[in-house]
Amino acid sequence: MRFSSLSTVLALSALQAVASPTQPDLAPRATPTVYLCGDSTMANRGANDGATDGWGQYFGTYSTVTVVNKAIGGRSARSLDTMMEARLGRMTTAVPTALGTGTETCISDKTGEVVYTFVFYVIQAAKLMTAKGATVVLSSQTPNNLWETGAFVGAPPRFVGYQLTAQKALSSSSVTFVDHFQAVANTYRKIGNSATNALYPRDHTHTSPQGASLVAQAFTQAIYQSMNGTTSLKSYIKNPPTVY
Ligand SMILES: *[C@@H]1O[C@H](CO)[C@@H](O)[C@H](O)[C@H]1NC(C)=O
Repeated sequence: MRFSSLSTVLALSALQAVASPTQPDLAPRATPTVYLCGDSTMANRGANDGATDGWGQYFGTYSTVTVVNKAIGGRSARSLDTMMEARLGRMTTAVPTALGTGTETCISDKTGEVVYTFVFYVIQAAKLMTAKGATVVLSSQTPNNLWETGAFVGAPPRFVGYQLTAQKALSSSSVTFVDHFQAVANTYRKIGNSATNALYPRDHTHTSPQGASLVAQAFTQAIYQSMNGTTSLKSYIKNPPTVY
């Protein structure tokens, strides 16, 4: 099974209704806006092949928030700055992040610039967002087709731990974690082999619109049930689905 940066997912919410007390100038809003940041598995139109779709916009069906889906196909954690319209050093090109979970660096063989780890970039982005009064929900990447071999293979890849590592390092009440990987894995295990395979029309990474909806429902259920702690999104869930 392939685990590339293509399937990493990060959900970020800018919920000004729950802005931190240190940002009193941000007036509470009746309808908060949630900015989603991720890759093609979250993006509108998925892999842009006419058959697949990303899950991000489907979250709007199950919540009362305004969803702004900023996910971009093929982007890694280093592209977060494009969403925030804030500068994060020189992170402007979509190249792979360095291996490791800390402050390791490597030199890009394409541009010669210093590249940090996925965790490093997530931490920098989360700090920028909380400084602007947002709350952040770090979400583990969604799985590929876990029934690809005909048997269920549900072991989480290393990227799942990266988001949790970042959340623990940040140690802020404004930054919470939800294991979206686990929620979707539970769902796929429940619906079984043929139903899961039917959600992957082109490859083992990108889902059909039906699959995208199911992945969004798994996210919503995990949020509603506080799977890995209570996030700032919980009170905005309507019609909570039960898919796992
Ligand atoms: C999140 O919570 C679920 C349910 O308790 C658990 O199965 C999963 O391992 C947790 N994820 C992490 C990364 O700790």
